[in-house]
Amino acid sequence: MLNNAVLLLLSSAAAVLGQLLPAGVTTPIVQDCGFNGTVVCVNRYGAVLPYHFNRTVSANGADYDFRNTTAGNASSFDLLAGADFVVFDQKRGLQYLGENPSYQFMFSVSAAVHEAPVYAPKQNLLFLSQLAPPAGVLPQLVVNLNEDPPTLSDYEPNPPIYAPNGGSFRNGFIVFGASGGNDSIGGGEQRASLRTVDPATNQSTVLLNNYFGYYFNTIDDVAIHPVTKDIFFTDPQYSWFNALSDTAPQLGTASYRFNPATGATFLIDDTIQQPNGIAFTPDGNTLYISDTGAVSGTIDPRLGSQGTTFNTTGKRAVYAFDVTNNGTRVLNRRSFYLSQDWIPDGLKVSQEGLVLTGSGHGVDVVDDIGQLLIRIQTNYTVQNFAWTGENLTTLWLMGNNGISKVEWNIKGQRLT
Ligand SMILES: *[C@@H]1O[C@H](CO)[C@@H](O)[C@H](O)[C@H]1NC(C)=O
Ligand SMILES: *[C@@H]1O[C@H](CO)[C@@H](O)[C@H](O)[C@H]1NC(C)=O
Ligand SMILES: *[C@@H]1O[C@H](CO)[C@@H](O)[C@H](O)[C@H]1NC(C)=O
Ligand SMILES: *[C@@H]1O[C@H](CO)[C@@H](O)[C@H](O)[C@H]1NC(C)=O
Ligand SMILES: *[C@@H]1O[C@H](CO)[C@@H](O)[C@H](O)[C@H]1NC(C)=O
Ligand SMILES: *[C@@H]1O[C@H](CO)[C@@H](O)[C@H](O)[C@H]1NC(C)=O
Ligand SMILES: *[C@@H]1O[C@H](CO)[C@@H](O)[C@H](O)[C@H]1NC(C)=O
Ligand SMILES: *[C@@H]1O[C@H](CO)[C@@H](O)[C@H](O)[C@H]1NC(C)=O
Ligand SMILES: *[C@@H]1O[C@H](CO)[C@@H](O)[C@H](O)[C@H]1NC(C)=O
Ligand SMILES: *[C@@H]1O[C@H](CO)[C@@H](O)[C@H](O)[C@H]1NC(C)=O
Repeated sequence: MLNNAVLLLLSSAAAVLGQLLPAGVTTPIVQDCGFNGTVVCVNRYGAVLPYHFNRTVSANGADYDFRNTTAGNASSFDLLAGADFVVFDQKRGLQYLGENPSYQFMFSVSAAVHEAPVYAPKQNLLFLSQLAPPAGVLPQLVVNLNEDPPTLSDYEPNPPIYAPNGGSFRNGFIVFGASGGNDSIGGGEQRASLRTVDPATNQSTVLLNNYFGYYFNTIDDVAIHPVTKDIFFTDPQYSWFNALSDTAPQLGTASYRFNPATGATFLIDDTIQQPNGIAFTPDGNTLYISDTGAVSGTIDPRLGSQGTTFNTTGKRAVYAFDVTNNGTRVLNRRSFYLSQDWIPDGLKVSQEGLVLTGSGHGVDVVDDIGQLLIRIQTNYTVQNFAWTGENLTTLWLMGNNGISKVEWNIKGQRLT
């Protein structure tokens, strides 16, 4: 009697839930993975969600990421809201987070883009930039990691550098991709350029500021080939869209290699709509470049800068390339990873070969075949990030309105 009643109840419940819960839903979809809810795990990538589900498409100023998906009756989805780390591959993800992962919001900053983080290990300083608005802002920022807690101050090298948008470290010098173009700023003219800063003296120099007389558009992000030390960089058109350049683009969007020994610049790719993040694997045999074409604007010199809009069906993926012939040949472009949120902006490869990209309100960590392992969740849009510390196990993240840091088991490449 009792058994029959239970069976009847179960089958009628199943009939009701049948529409809401398609066969294949894993329950729970999200579960606590320890650390008091700061780490949660998504089972089977949420590959089957209960009906009705819907993720609102993001727009400028309104970022709806995976945690903002409404998913039928899946109350376990609520666990995502309070988590700092979302683990998608439990075996590897939890290993990479380690015994004591932590996420800390460190500094509130302006709504401007914050970019170009470069760690100077000897000085134990983390340099980063702030872009306009307002136009013409010159001082950049530095985090002093010798203080406890770390402090944030303005920073200006001599001469100052307008709008660094990407950076790396080469032969003891900071290398900045300076993205702005202005004929009267900081006491003179500055064009999109590759610049260096000696962190011991704060003196800056220019390595490259033109392509046979043309201005680059927006030298954006830079990566140093680990073997040849050539400087690879992307050149999208954001400085025009965002009023950081007084001159409309003179070149198409492209990515380049610069050889500081000879002064020669080489085109390596002109198939990406808005090439942005750029990074090498530790062996230098694979190059990743992100396409952030989903955020784009118009080029009409008469109208001037019109800002950018987000188009959810636009390009927002990371591409991989093989690098051969001692870092001189870049070939076999292939699709690698579609960012789960917004656009894949900053891009870096860890010592273990994991690929990290700043995508909207967080950072995605994917393995070398493009499988998402972990997402760091933030409450602000992350543009870029860099590892710091003796063992390079601290990751500093920065973007519009925030700077934060993560402690975990994923190590940065040692840049010398
Ligand atoms: C969880 O929080 C409690 C109380 O705040 C604390 O004692 C405990 O150490 C925390 N556990 C973890 C794994 O962080
Ligand atoms: C999804 O949510 C958005 C925002 O609430 C709404 O405009 C849209 O109609 C919804 N779409 C569906 C299919 O539910
Ligand atoms: C949600 O699930 C609970 C059981 O977990 C069930 O009692 C309830 O009817 C479900 N609601 C809907 C709208 O499916
Ligand atoms: C997305 O979810 C987070 C966490 O619940 C919330 O703080 C944020 O406001 C939501 N975003 C939007 C655009 O609603
Ligand atoms: C150039 O810099 C000056 C500040 O020196 C600023 O007033 C002006 O708006 C800037 N122009 C552009 C196009 O960024
Ligand atoms: C260079 O700048 C850093 C950061 O502001 C500062 O700590 C250091 O003293 C400066 N070095 C020189 C030689 O001025
Ligand atoms: C690779 O390039 C670097 C830098 O140009 C050069 O020093 C080195 O000899 C080259 N190695 C080979 C194997 O060609
Ligand atoms: C968004 O991009 C798609 C191509 O992916 C294009 O067809 C569409 O016109 C674009 N929408 C807008 C508003 O630009
Ligand atoms: C993000 O959260 C921190 C506290 O964790 C808060 O201080 C900060 O104002 C928040 N930022 C935004 C943009 O909501
Ligand atoms: C770096 O790693 C070494 C070797 O594991 C360890 O002795 C040292 O304490 C670590 N340094 C920091 C700052 O964690």
